[in-house]
Amino acid sequence: MPDDLSVPNDAPSETCTPELSPPSDILTGYEDGSPVRALDLFSGMGGWSLAASRLGFKSSGVEIWDPARETREAAGFPTVARDVRDLITSPGDFDLLIASPPCQTFSTAGSGSGRKALSAVLEGIDRFAAGELPAYDELTSILGDERTALVLEPLRHAITGEPDFLAWEQVPNVRPVWEACATVLSKLGYFVWTGNVSAERFGVPQTRRRAVLLATKAGPLGAPLPTHRALRSSSDTLIDLPAPVSMAEALGRDDDGTQQRSNYSGPPSATKRTAAERGRSMRALSEPSVTITGRSFQWESPDGTRTRSTVRDALLLQSFPEDFPVQGDRGDIVRLQIGNAVPPVLAEALLRHVVAAKLPAPKQGTRMLKVICPADGYTIRTTNKWLQVGFPTCPCGTVMRREI
Ligand SMILES: C[S@@+](CC[C@H](N)C(=O)[O-])C[C@H]1O[C@@H](n2cnc3c(N)ncnc32)[C@H](O)[C@@H]1O
Repeated sequence: MPDDLSVPNDAPSETCTPELSPPSDILTGYEDGSPVRALDLFSGMGGWSLAASRLGFKSSGVEIWDPARETREAAGFPTVARDVRDLITSPGDFDLLIASPPCQTFSTAGSGSGRKALSAVLEGIDRFAAGELPAYDELTSILGDERTALVLEPLRHAITGEPDFLAWEQVPNVRPVWEACATVLSKLGYFVWTGNVSAERFGVPQTRRRAVLLATKAGPLGAPLPTHRALRSSSDTLIDLPAPVSMAEALGRDDDGTQQRSNYSGPPSATKRTAAERGRSMRALSEPSVTITGRSFQWESPDGTRTRSTVRDALLLQSFPEDFPVQGDRGDIVRLQIGNAVPPVLAEALLRHVVAAKLPAPKQGTRMLKVICPADGYTIRTTNKWLQVGFPTCPCGTVMRREI
């Protein structure tokens, strides 16, 4: 086990610049107060890492791409410059395994190559289910594509590292892979939840669907509970929830009739097969953004004038702080890192959910305190012990405070 891979308990508590990490000087974690130590595979510029830092976890990313590593360094996130395929992990190295493997082959799951990739991966998982630990090269030869094999690296490190918690995400097409991994993980003693989540339902000002796998050894785990309504849902039973956070709120703009013009068109249908026929989706400023990708989109004002979206727009609609220090000497490199990232507000909700099962439950008679978001009034009830750890971040990204 190389020294620089383990996530030490005594790592400096400042894993992030102060303005990015409100509760960074206090640790969150186990009953004895020791922090949760996270290993963040394919860590990118750091959506998960920012969320982990806000929760007071100690995290270490593993990333091969220089610009993403430079961004992480500027943000103060510890990073191991290594190919995940060369990583060796052992029990005790980390408590939480975070992973967002690259997704090129699965983004095309409807296509022939995507379907082939999926069935090959499921075949690869059968090897793990049989109690084997196939080498990466062997998996690549079964899967026939080395990028596709990367999606099984989280499973390998769950088996070799035996962490208490897992939090993985990918494009929705990967859900069958997560479900097959769940079968293997259940046999290893994990309680697993897999499903698709919609980012706007967790306070992100953007519709972005992701397939998620959450697992813990602490006890049964249900679905993470949404905090906001879906953008469009006729049968939403959680009607008491607030509407999704709009682009106007997130960007601090007045709704002057400007529309967001998506950089991609809707899915093919029987009547509209080409992108030109389908046109671009348009969203009002009063709605959450379309999915932010590595490409810019345009704003279209009521008089038809079009302007290109900025990096600030992309950061805020991905729920990053506007001053997050994304590095890169070209706009496309900067935008790709942002588009690749997990929205930190979604990541924080998922991490809270999976790790909460291990955090001490309030004792009978414990006084529950009300904590409110000064920006949108969102309220939760929590214990004083949690507040000593740090005030929670509202799904809208604002640090919450005690209701007086
Ligand atoms: C989907 S992005 C992850 C984004 C990240 N979760 C975030 O929030 O910023 C995948 C990342 O994996 C990195 N990557 C791809 N192959 C890798 C490998 N073999 N080892 C380490 N990192 C790799 C890419 O450079 C990219 O930054």
